Amino acid sequence: MKQQQVADKPWGGRFSAPTDALVEAFSASVSYDKRLYACDIEGSIAHATMLADVGLLTGEERDAIVAGLRGILADIEAGTMRWSITLEDVHMNIESELTRRIGTAGKKLHTGRSRNDQVATDIRLYLRAETDQVLALLEELQQALLALARRETETVMPGFTHMQIAQPVTFGHHMLAWNEMLLRDRERLLDCRKRINRLPLGAAALAGTGYPIDRQRVADLLGFDAICENSLDAVSDRDFMIEFVSASALLMVHLSRFSEELVLWSSAQFDFIELGDAFCTGSSIMPQKKNPDIPELVRGKCGRVSGHLMALLMLMKGQPLAYNRDNQEDKEPLFDTLDTVQDCLQVFARMLPTMQIKADNMRAAALKGFSTATDLADYLVGKGIAFRDAHEVVGRAVAEGVASGRDLAEFSLEELQRYCPEIQADVHKVLTLEGSLAARKHVGGTAPAQVAKAIKRAQQRLQALSIPSIGV
Ligand code: ARG
Repeated sequence: MKQQQVADKPWGGRFSAPTDALVEAFSASVSYDKRLYACDIEGSIAHATMLADVGLLTGEERDAIVAGLRGILADIEAGTMRWSITLEDVHMNIESELTRRIGTAGKKLHTGRSRNDQVATDIRLYLRAETDQVLALLEELQQALLALARRETETVMPGFTHMQIAQPVTFGHHMLAWNEMLLRDRERLLDCRKRINRLPLGAAALAGTGYPIDRQRVADLLGFDAICENSLDAVSDRDFMIEFVSASALLMVHLSRFSEELVLWSSAQFDFIELGDAFCTGSSIMPQKKNPDIPELVRGKCGRVSGHLMALLMLMKGQPLAYNRDNQEDKEPLFDTLDTVQDCLQVFARMLPTMQIKADNMRAAALKGFSTATDLADYLVGKGIAFRDAHEVVGRAVAEGVASGRDLAEFSLEELQRYCPEIQADVHKVLTLEGSLAARKHVGGTAPAQVAKAIKRAQQRLQALSIPSIGV
């Protein structure tokens, strides 16, 4: 007599001893892969529809399966489905429940299919939808950045290199730099989406199936752009997921760098911005504190997504063809990546509009640190002096400014002429912050007029990188 525990397993036929309880707990994935339930059901409905089309199921069997699966979907959503670790994963839980509800027709659903091509299909359907969600949240953040850039097109701030004040830039220009990074993240996600959107189903366990299946029909029903060409690759490929997590890790690096600036700018030393109260927290001991915890957390969360990328790369590196159970370990890193990236994008997009810009402080900082020294050198070049000589002359003037605690703009014409007799009365115009900004009017420059144009182009480029519609 077979033990009930083995008889319950859809694969129990060749076994005579029950699974060790420890093994059952160790190998079950249902606690986390039940997240795939809607995609699992969608994939099964498409598979059953195709099986009926090619005559492997009767119309009644197909209808019973479809209705049964829809009922299970409703119950899962209502929270009444009983998940069991004895049934390992989301796929066997749903299939067993279907058979319990509709009888023999339920046992025919798995014809011409394996859990290997089933899980690969589920995860692609899932990741396609989640990628679109990430793209939508990314767009919200980009719109928030563009709105800030539009509002602060002319606001002056110091630009930095080596964390030292370098040259004046506009706040709008600075926001557009962040938007460029996010536009590239968008491109990467959209490109990766093309390789996500291919159908593995039909590969069965690894070698395909002897049944007269119609893979293109299933691809059309599920809105896949193409089918995976090779059955061995179809069940074992996780490149699409690694690409997605890689694009996500880079997106998180961008958010982390942005966060670092927000933290610095919020400090008393910089005092460039103040984040809204709703997006900051206090200290339990120091009553005066208002801490930028949200950017700090985003910066911190960048680490886990990079970690997930490493986990997935290492998961794949030793795997021979075709499917191996190792692949069950792909889901938790992927799910946590999705949760983390979506949370961070959402919180950032909502936090940015609460940011108060302290334009006077930024301007005062830009006036310190000789940020128009390069403009003076460029002015001398205009008077026929070689750039290297001009650089030397201005360097000496800066040294005097450092010693006397004055910016170059505070030097009188006579004082400046001691360094270079070619300097004339028009010099003070180039030493102003506005003069420095306005001079950088080429494409990609920080002049307010150019920034205004760049915002319009960025808006169009964002629109051009929209989410493709699913062809079902
Ligand atoms: N839970 C498994 C996974 O996530 C499904 C495929 C199992 N296939 C198998 N041959 N045991 O990969």
